[in-house]
Amino acid sequence: MTLIALLAGDGIGPEVTAQARRVLEALAPDLVFEEGAVGGAAYRTQGHPLPPETLALAKRSDAVLFGAVGDPAFDALERAMRPEQAILGLRKGLGLFANLRPAKLFAGLEDASALKPEIARKIDLVIVRELTGDVYFGDKGRGLTRTGLREGHDLMRYDEVEVARIARVGFETARTRRHKLLSVDKANVLETSQLWRDVVNEVARDFPDVALSHMYVDNAAMQLVRDPGQFDTIVTGNLFGDILSDQASMCAGSIGMLPSAALGSSAQGMYEPIHGSAPDIAGQGKANPCAAILSAAMMLRHSLDRADVADRIETAVAAAILAGARTADLGGSMSTDAMGDAIMAQLG
Ligand code: NAD
Ligand code: IPM
Ligand code: MN
Repeated sequence: MTLIALLAGDGIGPEVTAQARRVLEALAPDLVFEEGAVGGAAYRTQGHPLPPETLALAKRSDAVLFGAVGDPAFDALERAMRPEQAILGLRKGLGLFANLRPAKLFAGLEDASALKPEIARKIDLVIVRELTGDVYFGDKGRGLTRTGLREGHDLMRYDEVEVARIARVGFETARTRRHKLLSVDKANVLETSQLWRDVVNEVARDFPDVALSHMYVDNAAMQLVRDPGQFDTIVTGNLFGDILSDQASMCAGSIGMLPSAALGSSAQGMYEPIHGSAPDIAGQGKANPCAAILSAAMMLRHSLDRADVADRIETAVAAAILAGARTADLGGSMSTDAMGDAIMAQLG
């Protein structure tokens, strides 16, 4: 039995994962789905954003299909109880240290991109984002300075093993593409980044066939809108990867288009759109389900060894878009369901 833990979460999470499930049920009818409560929805019913049953379900699943978490109603809770802790707890709890975030422009979306069409057309990159370290998981706290001022801190930290293993994923990923790896850091200012750069250079010796270069994150943010076509595989830390991937999404047309795969050292993975719960459009049937559907395709490819089915889904999304299917974020007026219908129709 192949068990998929379906963690839909908050806001548009349930709306977009419903479309992903629909596609999976049509193309991989043997998959068994079990739903788990997560995020604000879980806090409401069970008093915790990541109830132990949900973590246990995720651990015994072959793969996790995740929607989104986050609810403004819970932004004032103590941090440990906020919806976002669910996703961080799952990543850490499942050991998913590598996050693949591909960004490419689907033909026909040139006008949806924030860039000029001739520049947008060239974007085809993957961000390999470290996912269980950095300032996200370092010591954090609040207090008072000696003079009584309120202060807060979040420690940015990596050790060499954490950097080496994500660097390897970066090089391996580059090998499946154009053999070009760019490591993005802030080594001109941050010691964490200098260690990062040193270790990436050491790991590079095992990958002489991959051309490695380095770039500071501020320049990378600028280059991403100036000429995204220069990038192939980008490896970077947790925080920089978070920010650059949202930016890359708008170069490719919409945040509603970008899927992701969170991977560890086994075949198990967690698959989710890079976007959040979008409270501003939740419940209106407006959300673009493509990122969720493409995440399901990544799940088939990376965790379930069904690249052929993944290809079919990606081809169907591309065909639906080429045929003019558009939700509001892409400049159209289709509902989430209608976009799902358009993709299903392409699957035949
Ligand atoms: P967001 O990604 O939810 O939304 C940003 C903007 O993009 C909004 O205007 C939204 O309407 C739009 N958008 C996002 N996904 C879309 C889609 N599929 N189709 C059409 N439009 C889409 O980011 P935010 O507003 O900063 O955060 C909202 C909540 O989500 C917060 O609680 C945040 O912590 C959480 N969040 C969760 C995840 C996750 O679960 N992986 C990721 C990011 C943010
Ligand atoms: C993402 C989100 C998360 C992150 C938040 C919700 C914790 O922004 O998956 O990109 O920062 O990793
Ligand atoms: Mn993010």
